[in-house]
Amino acid sequence: MVDIGTGNGAIPLLASQNARRRGIDLDLHGVDIADIDPPACISGGQAMYAGIRFHPRTSALSLPFADASVHLLTSQYALEYMPRAQAIREALRVMGYDGAAAFVLHSDDSIISATLSPQLRGLDWLFGQSELLARTRQLIAHHTMKSQPPSADATIRAEFESAMREFMNVVHENPSTDILRKVTGHLRNILSLEPAGAMAALDRTERSLRDEHERLRQLQRAILTQEDFDQLAEVFASTGRRVTVTPIDHVPGTCMGRTMMIERA
Ligand SMILES: C[S@@+](CC[C@H](N)C(=O)[O-])C[C@H]1O[C@@H](n2cnc3c(N)ncnc32)[C@H](O)[C@@H]1O
Repeated sequence: MVDIGTGNGAIPLLASQNARRRGIDLDLHGVDIADIDPPACISGGQAMYAGIRFHPRTSALSLPFADASVHLLTSQYALEYMPRAQAIREALRVMGYDGAAAFVLHSDDSIISATLSPQLRGLDWLFGQSELLARTRQLIAHHTMKSQPPSADATIRAEFESAMREFMNVVHENPSTDILRKVTGHLRNILSLEPAGAMAALDRTERSLRDEHERLRQLQRAILTQEDFDQLAEVFASTGRRVTVTPIDHVPGTCMGRTMMIERA
């Protein structure tokens, strides 16, 4: 069994626990393009992941497995991040005629998609229209450069306060934008520091917000529409396999995406 885009190996771990309980011997592999090492990174990982072979820095577009050597290929929220046509071609190569696949996929009717949208819009606005970060930076820089005339002080403070007022209005009008509410708290802490420390803290905050922005943008691109599901199902169905798509909605009102099971008919 091969899990592509395995991350911390949640799926091979589940499979290994299940197999152990049922006395089945599985040859388990987790592949990821990132430099993963779950047994070393997670406390108690050596014992927990015993028997699972991880392949870090390995693309799912070029798997280190022979043709038709994989009985079950899995992916949990990972296939969607890959160039789809290439990933499917490679999956079908290693699955051969008899292999099956099981995917957990993001869908646009999920709670993940619904929660993502306001956060992404908030960060688009923060880095697009809002002047708050620039004005905060200007305010801290001004306190560092004591040679500025006193009149500059009032102007810079007024510009900061105007940006902050606009920011607070947006936060107020978009109560589900948690990420912006957190920014307010961070800025309050930053402005209570000495100028040098404040500037370094602002840099760190901005970097982590930009990372989060990029992560959310990637997630948005990974969310599949009904049309995407139909296309994906059609590709696997055209190889003579039965494709079953089921919403993941064990908790009513909180759809977490869909499973797609692909087996030889
Ligand atoms: C959202 S994470 C999901 C991780 C894991 N499956 C889970 O459910 O926790 C997506 C993973 O896909 C990996 N990934 C993205 N493109 C890949 C590729 N071309 N080949 C292998 N892994 C890839 C990323 O490095 C990341 O670990």
